[in-house]
Amino acid sequence: MIYLDNAATSFPKPRAVIRDLNFCLKKYCGNPGRSSHKLSIKAIEEIYNTRELIAEMIDAEGAEHIIFTYNATYALNIAIKSYVSEKCHIITSDFEHNSVIRPLESLKQSLGVEYSLIDTAKDIRTELNKALRPDTKGIICSICSNVFGRSLPLSVLSEFAKTNSLFLIIDASQALGHMHIDLKKTPCDALCAPGHKSLFGIQGCGFAYFKDKYRRKCLIEGGSGANSIDKEMPMLLPEGYEAGTLSTPAIISLGAGIRFINKIGLDEISSKLNAMTQSLYDRLRYIKEIDAYPVGCGLLSFNIKDISSSVIAKELDNAGICVRGGLHCAPSAHKILGTLGQGAVRASLSYLNSQGDIEYLYKVTREIANKI
Ligand code: ALA
Repeated sequence: MIYLDNAATSFPKPRAVIRDLNFCLKKYCGNPGRSSHKLSIKAIEEIYNTRELIAEMIDAEGAEHIIFTYNATYALNIAIKSYVSEKCHIITSDFEHNSVIRPLESLKQSLGVEYSLIDTAKDIRTELNKALRPDTKGIICSICSNVFGRSLPLSVLSEFAKTNSLFLIIDASQALGHMHIDLKKTPCDALCAPGHKSLFGIQGCGFAYFKDKYRRKCLIEGGSGANSIDKEMPMLLPEGYEAGTLSTPAIISLGAGIRFINKIGLDEISSKLNAMTQSLYDRLRYIKEIDAYPVGCGLLSFNIKDISSSVIAKELDNAGICVRGGLHCAPSAHKILGTLGQGAVRASLSYLNSQGDIEYLYKVTREIANKI
């Protein structure tokens, strides 16, 4: 079986991730920060280590600026609903995932929020200026599409937000683990990502970085392990946004995943992924039955004639290749590609894939294209 669905969730996980996860489950998985016995203290210490690793990876001010959630969608919901206020205007992009568009749509209904989409095929500064209104309060967008190779320059977004006193919330779901992010050079107010994709953690944990040390709104209340006498959630981060027991195993696995990435180096990872996706693209685009879309952040999407992408994904599955068809929860991106009806077959790679995997995908795809 060849797994090429790493943008949905990475598989397999590096050995070091499984080792650290096993060790946590066998040796110390107490409830983090709730009790004062050794297993609880060890769990909270290891969670803190993961916070530090994330903060270092994105050049954040410190570990306490990282809050853990269940996934990137939770992180984005918390960030978006903390920052967006009644009747304000927001700028976003035309290739967003539903984890940005659906919260915005819900805020449109509940708070009268309006939002504009910038055309990411055009000059981004010009587009941002065009979208800016007197009531614009923030920019919320992804910096790398999960459907095709299009990304937005964080430096331009960051500078524009600063110049115009806007808040900036970044969805880095597809970007982290593929590109360097340095929040000292390119600051933003919040940045959200999952742990289980290119950072190699297991499912059940995502995170948000917040520039502020204090929570803005309280969206989920409950136990925080600190100041139990208070009827309100703590104001300080990270506890202010972390109600209830955290997923210790998922967070530990995420820490191990980041250590794995640090050992190899982000440049080495992205250059291997670029080389593999580009070599696949260079061959697929010469098959006349195939439309291959631009590559980026370790993924390549394509279609064969006008056949449903789900049908092709199933054929590939039958041949032992895991890819994702359909709309990838990002209909806006498919609108750009003109594939709203058909979706696209997406092959998304991880550092653990080999050129042999790509060769096999190419061979089977060519056979399917020839027989259809
Ligand atoms: N958002 C994930 C994907 O792109 C699940 O497949």
